[in-house]
Amino acid sequence: MTKVITYGTYDLFHQGHYNLLKNAKALGDYLIVGVTTEHFDEARGKVNVIDDVLTRIENVRATGFADEIIVEDHEGQKIEDIQRYGVDVFTVGSDWVGTFDYLRQFCKVVYLPRTPDISSTKIRETKFNIVKMGIIGTGRIAKRYVSESKYVSGIENVALYNPVDENGLEKFSNEHTIPAYSDSYESFLEAVDGVYIASTNETHYDYAKTAILAGKHVMSEKPLTFTKKEAEELYELAKKKEVVLIEAVKAAYCPGFQQLVNVAKSGKIGAIKDVEANFTRLANEGSREKTDSEYGGGFLEYGSNVLLPVIKLLGKEYKDVRFSSLFDENGVDIYGKIEFEYEGAMATVKTGVGVKTEGQLVVSGTKGYIIAPSPWWLTKHFEVRYEEEEYKDGQGVEVYEPAFRGDGLRYEISEFVMKINGYAKNSYKLTAGESIVMADITEKYMKYKESMKH
Ligand code: CTP
Repeated sequence: MTKVITYGTYDLFHQGHYNLLKNAKALGDYLIVGVTTEHFDEARGKVNVIDDVLTRIENVRATGFADEIIVEDHEGQKIEDIQRYGVDVFTVGSDWVGTFDYLRQFCKVVYLPRTPDISSTKIRETKFNIVKMGIIGTGRIAKRYVSESKYVSGIENVALYNPVDENGLEKFSNEHTIPAYSDSYESFLEAVDGVYIASTNETHYDYAKTAILAGKHVMSEKPLTFTKKEAEELYELAKKKEVVLIEAVKAAYCPGFQQLVNVAKSGKIGAIKDVEANFTRLANEGSREKTDSEYGGGFLEYGSNVLLPVIKLLGKEYKDVRFSSLFDENGVDIYGKIEFEYEGAMATVKTGVGVKTEGQLVVSGTKGYIIAPSPWWLTKHFEVRYEEEEYKDGQGVEVYEPAFRGDGLRYEISEFVMKINGYAKNSYKLTAGESIVMADITEKYMKYKESMKH
């Protein structure tokens, strides 16, 4: 008996998939089909998959070609499967020619002709209304956004706005061939369906509010606002205008970070008692972060990053929060610490633009702890360590290495597009409530900073 195996996502099942499965079955007597999980697809950078895994499996089953269907959920699994199932032939479509030659040590590899002119990506693009995006701000993060957005289906960057830096705007516009707008925000908004706000911190709220009122979707860099009231207002307005509003706290949308939160909540480390998160970067002398005493500084730059794991792991209902910061002679907080008190738990987070510390995340529980080294906000690696007898000789350690692509922005962009198209209905990755708590803490921090001036 000749056993054949093939793998795919099979999103929005189409004729190309059908032909491939038919031809694959004809290569032998028994066909195994591996269908990817959402997590695996996300982790390998395939974002925007629409059908859930059960639907995709059902569609493969309905063809009648598969004798067995398995789930593919990690890198390296193909070698395992080929050996475990005693596979004779591995096959995929000709778009993969060469990629799987390494499997020749284990079985025969056949690249089947791909059906022309059809793919899930193409169908997704017709299902999605292409979101015409406008980018506000032309700094570093905006550039990263542009390169990462290329990995997300259903988005087109059509306008660039910056009223304060004409040179930067022109350069960016030429480099990326995106039309530039510098005068009227209104005319810029007319050209777009949604905006990505990547301008300086103090401008986020106004830009977001005007865009929402004009019926545009908004993805804003953090911090969304400096007060709780403003954040509440924006989320309410967005609801009323039926537009999507998300705060771009990158880690919240990264698959690895979500896995870390889920592992922490699964009881593996017992009850969660303490969260420690640091995010510090030495900003260049003369940079905005290091010189703007009002809207620069460690907290406003990196606060959202470190507040995220605290709120995700311990919840929104903290009992008390205390700040302490070191200010330089100009009043910029170059280093700071925030301590939280929760019912039966606590947290400490640190941010800095002028003092460097280890950028790690540690979640401590009654049975063990999770440690994610820098850069934990991308969460490419974390370990669960148990306080057990055998831990002494290196056991009681579980290592997680979630796959991760690019610099992570594609995950939040994908979430934004999926939400606009109605495919991501729940905001569990970062809820409006969680984003509002961040604004509330930001407001308290701004008051603390003000009080330190006197
Ligand atoms: N396939 C094919 N002909 C097509 C599209 C896909 O033969 N027109 C094959 C692929 O080569 C692969 C299998 O179908 O062996 C599953 O592919 P998958 O990646 O799920 O489908 P695509 O349509 O290529 O998806 P995407 O556009 O998201 O990459």
